[in-house]
Amino acid sequence: MKIMEPNAVHDFYGGVITGTAVKTGVKRLRDMIGAYKEAGEAEDLDRVMYEVYSFENGDPAQAGNLNWGLTVMYPELVGGECNFTRGHVHADQSCAEIYFGLDGQGLLLFMDQDGGTWAEKVRRGSLHYIDGRWAHRLVNTGDGVLKVGACWPVTAGHDYQWVEDHPFPVRVFKKNGEIICI
Ligand code: F6R
Ligand code: ZN
Repeated sequence: MKIMEPNAVHDFYGGVITGTAVKTGVKRLRDMIGAYKEAGEAEDLDRVMYEVYSFENGDPAQAGNLNWGLTVMYPELVGGECNFTRGHVHADQSCAEIYFGLDGQGLLLFMDQDGGTWAEKVRRGSLHYIDGRWAHRLVNTGDGVLKVGACWPVTAGHDYQWVEDHPFPVRVFKKNGEIICI
């Protein structure tokens, strides 16, 4: 039996996922500034808020194949509001997803199609099931980097417009070290 290395070089816990099919996205504050409630005028728009690594496995058109990815979020505050991902529902809402906490402290915000909103705590070792109809957004509530792994169908797609049309009704602030959801 031939024993091989993994088909990509991963150090999830270290926040690294590499390989030939990796796509990397970087979100800076300038990409997200409009989404924050109380952004000051003097914000450094070059600040990196989060990085997304994703690895497409197999044929991206073949339903049933899976991507995996990694989101690395920095402990940034904007007007006291904790760093959050843009958030999306899957374009194909039959496609669910799993998130798994690797490092740091955060919240995973959910919103269903009726606007019902709730959250789960994210930490190293936590597992999170995301129904394909639920909008999902990560928030870094900790003082360190939040690293979250993910696995989702290659055919899921991302619908960001839905979240822009139906904004999350909850915001997460950190004031004097305390997390406040408003
Ligand atoms: C994939 C998925 C994650 C997110 C990532 C960044 O379906 O949920 O890989 O894409 O956490 O969040 P967004 O895409 O909302 O900027
Ligand atoms: Zn998703």
